[in-house]
Order: sequence, then C-alpha cells, then structure tokens
Amino acid sequence: MGNRPIGVFDSGVGGLSLLRELRSLLPNENFIYISDNAFAPYGALSPEDIRERSRALTHWLCEQSCKLIVVACNTATTNAIESLRKTHPMPFVGIEPAIKPAALQTKTGVVGVLATKGTLSSGLFHETATAYGQGVRILEKEGKHLVEMIESGMLQSEEMEQLLQSYTQPMIEQGVDHLVLGCTHYPFLTPILNRTLPKHIKIVDCNGAVAKQVERVLNKKELGCKSQDLGNTTYYCTGDSQTMRQFVTPENIIELSIP
Ligand code: DGL
Repeated sequence: MGNRPIGVFDSGVGGLSLLRELRSLLPNENFIYISDNAFAPYGALSPEDIRERSRALTHWLCEQSCKLIVVACNTATTNAIESLRKTHPMPFVGIEPAIKPAALQTKTGVVGVLATKGTLSSGLFHETATAYGQGVRILEKEGKHLVEMIESGMLQSEEMEQLLQSYTQPMIEQGVDHLVLGCTHYPFLTPILNRTLPKHIKIVDCNGAVAKQVERVLNKKELGCKSQDLGNTTYYCTGDSQTMRQFVTPENIIELSIP
C-alpha cells in the first residue's frame, strides 16, 4: 500500500522545482511526474479547461495506483483542486502563492506577487489575498510569457532578464520588500532574480512548505513508504520531451498522450 507512487503534475517543467523538494524530503517514496506540456501554458486557459486537464491527468494517475496527488501548479490548484477533491477519494496537496508568510514578514507593508493570469483571476487566490493581506499592499503582476519562454528553453537568455526586469522594476519603485513567486516555473528564475533585484528584497516560494505538508498528510493517513530503499521517479510528457530532458537528464522520460 505505502509503496504505491505519489503522482505529481504540472503544465510543464515548473512542478520539477517542487518535485526536487519532495524527493529530497521523502527519498524512499516513488514518484510519477507528468508535464502536460501539450496543453501548456495553463495560465492562458479558461477555468473550465484547467479543470478538464486536471481531471484527465488525475484520472490517469489514479490508473497508475497513485496514493496521493500533488498538484504542482498554482494555476491548477487555485482553479481545480476543490473539484478534484469532490470527485476523487485520494488526498490532494496543492500549491498556492505564499502570501501569508510574505504579509507577516514585510517591513515596508508592500508585497509583490508574480503569477499567471489564471492564478491571479481565481477565486481562491482572492480569498487568500483578502484573508492574509490585511493592512498590506499586494502588487499583483501577471508573469506574461515567462512560462512559454521556460518551456521553450529560453531560461538563460537576455530576453528573459529584460522581461523579468520589466515586471519587477515597478514593484521595486513602489517599495516591495518581498516578492512571492506564485508559479512553480518561477523558482527556476531565482538565480536571475538574485542577481538583478536589490538585496533587501526577499524572494518567497513555498515549495519546501508544500513538501512538508505532503509528509504530514502521508503520516496522518499512514500512507508513507515503508521501504528503506531509495525511491524511483518516472517522468511523462504529454508533448515533446526536449525541454524536460534539459532539467532531468539522464533519467527516463516517456512521451504519452492523455486526451
Ligand atoms: N507551473 C504553473 C503554475 O504554477 C504554470 C502555469 C502555466 O502553465 O501557465 O502556475
């Protein structure tokens, strides 16, 4: 029972930033990772289409006997996790922009959030921003084209640096001291942000906290893997696997269609 895999999905390679934390915290667990890159970016899809893709991937992960599913995508979590929980019996853990820790720690009272259009326009994001952002100015910015550029292998490029600066400069001018990365693709941009942002701005992502939440749920439901052996991870892409290969070489990546 406990040796069944944990399913992890995202629209692309973004969720690998969360998978990295999961594998390091839970080294004995087996994982199945799906990049739904045939349908990326999710940020540009309607809420109904995001729910439809999340349902299709969850259905497939159920067929692979996954014991828990990690929705490693802020856009899918904020638009689809509630409906997934209603229709599937296994536990789900999702990821949402980490507004709460940023709002608690800000000294300037101004917090920037970079996320997809799909996340920023979701009801769940607004509930969280309202609940935890009291007395704090939250500057929301859509990270337009960032996911597409990362998915097309343009992570390290002059264009990427310029685009990021065009999003962060107005935030800097308005006094942010925390920048919340509200998309699992964005932690891959942290080296560029560390180089280009003023040093007092703290970059916030919650991958570590989400990995701990997965550990808590596994313990609570007694679903943790009992094996002492190192777990394995299998990677799937619904589209071309070329970008994924740059992130997870030399591991095995399987291309498959999930309609
Ligand atoms: N990694 C997804 C997220 O966390 C990216 C969504 C997209 O494909 O636009 O929101």
